[in-house]
Amino acid sequence: MMEWIGGSGSLPEVLCVIGARPNYMKMAPLLEAFARRRPCVPTRLVHTGQHYDTAMSDQHFQALDLPTPAIALGVGSGSHAVQTAEIMRRFEPVLDESAPGAVLVVGDVNSTLACALVAVKKGVPVVHVEAGLRSFDRTMPEEINRVLTDQLAELLFTTEAAAAENLAGEGIPAERVRFAGNVMIDSVLRHLPRATPADQTLNGQCPSGYALVTLHRPSNVDDPETLCRLLQTLVKVAERLPVVFPVHPRTRARIEAVGQQDWFAQPRIHALPPLDYLAMLGLLREATCVLTDSGGLQEETTALGVPCLTLRDNTERPITVEQGTNTVVGTDPLRILANVEQIMISGGKAGRVPERWDGHAAERIAKEVALWLEKRQRRTA
Ligand code: UD1
Repeated sequence: MMEWIGGSGSLPEVLCVIGARPNYMKMAPLLEAFARRRPCVPTRLVHTGQHYDTAMSDQHFQALDLPTPAIALGVGSGSHAVQTAEIMRRFEPVLDESAPGAVLVVGDVNSTLACALVAVKKGVPVVHVEAGLRSFDRTMPEEINRVLTDQLAELLFTTEAAAAENLAGEGIPAERVRFAGNVMIDSVLRHLPRATPADQTLNGQCPSGYALVTLHRPSNVDDPETLCRLLQTLVKVAERLPVVFPVHPRTRARIEAVGQQDWFAQPRIHALPPLDYLAMLGLLREATCVLTDSGGLQEETTALGVPCLTLRDNTERPITVEQGTNTVVGTDPLRILANVEQIMISGGKAGRVPERWDGHAAERIAKEVALWLEKRQRRTA
């Protein structure tokens, strides 16, 4: 891992916050784009430590060329209240010491909201990348994080048109909102040539295709009945197509808690530990289809043209359904199996890549942030 020197131009420093796995692939292209601008936008990377296992954190840094965080808060796991509060408690002195020009947060995890809240109450403006996405499902912790972070942010970058409409509906002035495109897809396009071949990750198993599965949403894995139903459905899917399943630590714990550890030994189920970014990208590119409850995978499959079945009742990323390869199928076994069958017969839904998912979103954001910082500087001079 390289040591990061964000540079020291005439612009004030932007503290960039990451906490959980899906933040890393969003932040990596942003840090690079900030450093490339002339004059550069000085940055410092803060890792809250929401994710801390090597498999959930460190190994992604290497794969994504992410710098070592300048500040590590080491919060770890806890209930939502404990985790959010602990991040806030530990982030406050960082702001006191560094007095940055802005705090930049990405996505919708607890770290996103916690740091935005601390910053705004200290009078430090917040920039939110991936603003305006809404599932309209307030039982999702991420939905609460999204709505509140967007209310706190002064500059909001969106990935798709629906996001701007959602923000307008919540009373957020349009002049704060910029349609930047998708930084997660910047990472996909940049790292795809280096992706680990699926064959290598799978040791030559599944040569004629596989369904790539990820599951970790509380709504799917915390309720024993839903979890067991999904596990049984995956056994059925495996009769048709081998299942490759990198298992999130929270999901593994839940499977064990409901006494289903033997499930992993079912035929044609290939359970793997959480994978590094390049291995995951390789598996994704070559998958026959993806079954997931992740937000990021819905976008990555759309960018790569791989059919995706979303195992939820809603999506906050409607463009992946309207234009991309995504189908929201919920958790009903018959519906899931019928959709897998359809993909086996017809190859699945063909889609197109949405506007500005072109590998240049971070560049657009760096330019806008630099202009915005300059303007703020002039106002306060
Ligand atoms: C978090 C995000 C979610 C994101 C996901 C990606 C919130 C509310 N949720 O969910 O939006 O999609 O990250 O992974 O911020 N654990 C470990 N090692 C780790 C991290 C977690 O074992 O490094 C286990 C712990 O048992 C922990 C559980 O996973 O209690 C949940 O972790 P947490 O960070 O609370 O949420 P995620 O489910 O990972």
